[in-house]
Amino acid sequence: MNKELNGILLSYQGVESDLIPILQDIQSHFGYLPGKLMKEVSSFIGIPESELYGVATFYQQFRFTPIGRQHIVVCEGTACHVKGANKIIESIERHLNIKKGEVTFDLEYSLESVGCLGCCALAPCAMINHEIKSNLTLKDIKKLFSKNKDNIIEDS
Ligand code: FES
Repeated sequence: MNKELNGILLSYQGVESDLIPILQDIQSHFGYLPGKLMKEVSSFIGIPESELYGVATFYQQFRFTPIGRQHIVVCEGTACHVKGANKIIESIERHLNIKKGEVTFDLEYSLESVGCLGCCALAPCAMINHEIKSNLTLKDIKKLFSKNKDNIIEDS
């Protein structure tokens, strides 16, 4: 068994109600739910792997791919949407050559969106590794990625 997973499972009894907290602990430790560990978790809980995935995919909080060292979360809530959040997302996608929900090949950046970051007056907003970026413009996005040119594609 994976040593780190074993450390997580030690604090659980292996009953069905442990599943969500175990998945949360795994994601908190690894940053996502590594597929190779899910079989061990399903054996520990005593449920089929398909059932585990059924539960895990039901909750938006769980992800099955790793996040980048710089995890970008762009708000797509109403206020940000009205202020052009879609243009911000498109620009980031172009710069990084990934789509929402993906991570760059070198695991430097990942991109996802949320419903509201709770700072609507500062729309459009995003969060990079828990730091809020507000009143974003396309220029800000260009500037943000100009530091790491090897990993990006310029806006046309
Ligand atoms: S809608 Fe974007 S912060 Fe609330």
